Amino acid sequence: MASTVFSPFTLRGMTVKNRIVMSPMLMYRGQDDGMLNEYVYAHYAARALGGAGMIGTEVLAVEPRGRISAKDLGIWSDEQAAGLRRLTDFAHDCDARIFAQLAHAGRKSHLTGTAIAPSAIAYDETLGAPAEATIEDIEALIENYRAAAIRAVEAGFDAVEIHAANGYLLHEFLAPVSNTRTDDYGGSLENRMRLPLRVVEAVREAIPTGMPLLYRIVASDFGTDGVTIDEASRLSKEIRDRGVDLIDVQTGNILPGYEGPVYPGYQAPYGTRIKAETGLAIGATGSIASLDLAEFLLASGQADLVMMGRALLRDPFWPIRAAKEAGVEVDFPIPTYARATGPFERGF
Ligand SMILES: Cc1cc2nc3c(=O)[nH]c(=O)nc-3n(C[C@H](O)[C@H](O)[C@H](O)COP(=O)(O)O)c2cc1C
Repeated sequence: MASTVFSPFTLRGMTVKNRIVMSPMLMYRGQDDGMLNEYVYAHYAARALGGAGMIGTEVLAVEPRGRISAKDLGIWSDEQAAGLRRLTDFAHDCDARIFAQLAHAGRKSHLTGTAIAPSAIAYDETLGAPAEATIEDIEALIENYRAAAIRAVEAGFDAVEIHAANGYLLHEFLAPVSNTRTDDYGGSLENRMRLPLRVVEAVREAIPTGMPLLYRIVASDFGTDGVTIDEASRLSKEIRDRGVDLIDVQTGNILPGYEGPVYPGYQAPYGTRIKAETGLAIGATGSIASLDLAEFLLASGQADLVMMGRALLRDPFWPIRAAKEAGVEVDFPIPTYARATGPFERGF
């Protein structure tokens, strides 16, 4: 029987060679000026060589105060975007697609004294209270997302993802526990969704019609006065209507700790519901590390792509190994890898 994991998938004008996506993972190994360096380049290049269909970058900060750490990559300048071109070119040479994850850490920024958030409520004692974002901050932020999206296109990315989960800025706006504003950006769900939706509109306008837009959503905060699945479902429909193509489903982390259960594929059920309600493509994320589970999620129609984090951190060549396990012949980015035969054949 054919493997779904190793079948291609098309979103708008982009086709990926297989369904294995490297989930965004911050390496804390860039430079203080937000530029790509050899370490980060080699890290992603290894995953492109290893056969992933698509690579998600780690958080790319849309403005300097949106960094989690001083070692985050940025996309707030043209110079940073030009530096990323090397990475997109290499991914393409390996027949991998690559998306830029546009991000803002909000109150979870570890930089001292610059964090903004919907309200001046600290994430924890260590990070301290952020400044409440003014209306000017909000307007500037939307323009920074727009400019970052334009730079991502110029840098050669195949798609863009808006990071709106994991307790970072856009998630903070959506969750009542971190958003106690009384203006148009707080209170009702409609108001709490306003900034995320304006960001979606700005980014969609900035990128070509044929380019897919991904959205990393939070599907539930497990009753911590955060986001509920019903709210996530409503938001999903709103972003679909504004041109989002795929929802990458996350849960929790609006407060320190994680309240939900963790098991192989633990976030997939939320994606299944959102897929049924919106008809959107879904990226399943969370403890997916086996070919069997990936095949099950894809072939049963619960997800369209599997977004793998730690499995690809442990082993950049996981996709090539999985292809062998599935009995599928894949093209190696370096064809000589095909000569990595077993111990009962002579290597030469
Ligand atoms: C070291 C590390 C860094 C991460 N950094 C990011 C990030 O930059 N952006 C993001 O959206 N998620 C980030 N995540 C979350 C992963 O993308 C992924 O959702 C999570 O690890 C669950 O998938 P897994 O069980 O396959 O690892 C990070 C995870 C790890 C382990």
